[in-house]
Amino acid sequence: MKLEISSESLAQIQTPVLMAYSFEDAPASSGTVERLPAEVRSTIEELQASREITGKSYECTLLHRPAGLAARKLLVVGAGKRQKFNDAQLRRVAGAAVRHLRGRGIHELAWLLDNEGTRRESVEAVVEAALLADYDADRYRTEREVERRIDLLALATGGHAPSEAVRAGLERGRIIAEAQNFSRDLVNEPSNRMTPTMLAERAQTMAELYGLECQVLGPEQIRELKMGAFWAVAQGSDEPPRLIVVHYEPAEAPAELVVGLVGKGITFDTGGISIKPSENMHEMKTDMAGAATMLGVMQAIAQLKPRVRVIAVVPATENMPSGKAYKPGDVITSMSGKTIEILNTDAEGRLVLADALTYAKQLGCTALIDAATLTGAVTIALGNITTGVFGSSQEWVNRVLNAAADAGEKMWQLPVDDDYREQYKSLIADLANTGGRYGGAITGAMFVGEFAGDTPWVHLDIAGTRWSNEEKPFLAKGPTGAPLRTLVHMLLKLAG
Ligand code: BES
Ligand code: MN
Ligand code: ZN
Repeated sequence: MKLEISSESLAQIQTPVLMAYSFEDAPASSGTVERLPAEVRSTIEELQASREITGKSYECTLLHRPAGLAARKLLVVGAGKRQKFNDAQLRRVAGAAVRHLRGRGIHELAWLLDNEGTRRESVEAVVEAALLADYDADRYRTEREVERRIDLLALATGGHAPSEAVRAGLERGRIIAEAQNFSRDLVNEPSNRMTPTMLAERAQTMAELYGLECQVLGPEQIRELKMGAFWAVAQGSDEPPRLIVVHYEPAEAPAELVVGLVGKGITFDTGGISIKPSENMHEMKTDMAGAATMLGVMQAIAQLKPRVRVIAVVPATENMPSGKAYKPGDVITSMSGKTIEILNTDAEGRLVLADALTYAKQLGCTALIDAATLTGAVTIALGNITTGVFGSSQEWVNRVLNAAADAGEKMWQLPVDDDYREQYKSLIADLANTGGRYGGAITGAMFVGEFAGDTPWVHLDIAGTRWSNEEKPFLAKGPTGAPLRTLVHMLLKLAG
């Protein structure tokens, strides 16, 4: 999708469709509809009187040959209640408008910006919305709906010279949404087309393209580093594991802070010997969504260039049952030296994360954030709507929660509390890899946190939010790319 700024006067904008929004609890001439010429506004007011336009969220009404405009059509999109309107809602409203127009033979659009004092954040939200809305998960359909793609989005200032805020919003929005779609593409790939080796290749290609340093370690090095927990999971698969490390360390950034981004990279989770039921097992191709998030974040910051050092560490492997697979009751020694009794081979994510966190600390990371499709339990607690947030440092948890609010991603903190440690004690070893049914998201998170030690650490359980089970007006069914925007926003803010 090409993005441009159009500073032509409103009446003169030549576009197949101009998009504007209005509110539900206000006259139809509200929102950006208020900026339109009186001729077309009176039509809109008539439609409102007959209840054809209500302003309810995502309602789309297409007017042909709108009076007083050079645009061939005008799409009026409902923005919901004025009180509830913010950048997150704007992102959804703009996404809904774009998704409504795709597939109607329309390939070029113009979005009417709010006014002369347009904020960078709102432009960013619109650009992100359009790029994220113009995505479908139909990659391997031989007759893909590519003819639906939008080729051009113009941001219409309505006659003002484009401000620095508009330019910056366009650029940031593009970079972040492209990274999010890159992450969605990785999650969408089935496991036969996204083995640990292929994931590492994608990471390397991305790193080369954006000028980042990338190292990929294979089985011998993983064993040499004594990553016994990562290795235990990997040993059952014929696909060799990969440890992917991507560096973004600008010389001008302060040396004291190195943020480690650790992403769970299970390219397929069968459960191993504690095998999963076959129903819905195909969804476990998405068990590398944490990895995809972190690689996407690296792609975004390589372009946005915040003054902060960041290292991404991705342990990538399959979790398979086989004659070589690890088994319940096995005791393994993690890279940290802590011993772990395996009670369930399906609790593999925390094992690969344990060694990846230890390695990130060894590389010099002074703060750790992991993203992982860690537990089914988090989806029982928070559904598919909200990412579970856990952490040892409230300061860092707050950074993430604040960034999530800015980025329009829903997150909720769940507790980390020593009283839960009883649940994952082992009779034979330092730790057991499961903590029972109750509070499963918490004990899973806390097990991971044991390996962060004293280093400030935040854990994002994205088992529920990695994938949308239904088509939304503003987003296709399939991979969501969560929680990439939150992490990018947090890193940008950290850098000041
Ligand atoms: N990858 C799964 C968690 C998951 C479930 C992700 C549903 C996405 C959707 C994870 O490896 C897993 O199997 N967790 C177990 C842990 C249990 C054995 C302690 C679970 O949640 O059942
Ligand atoms: Mn599992
Ligand atoms: Zn898993």
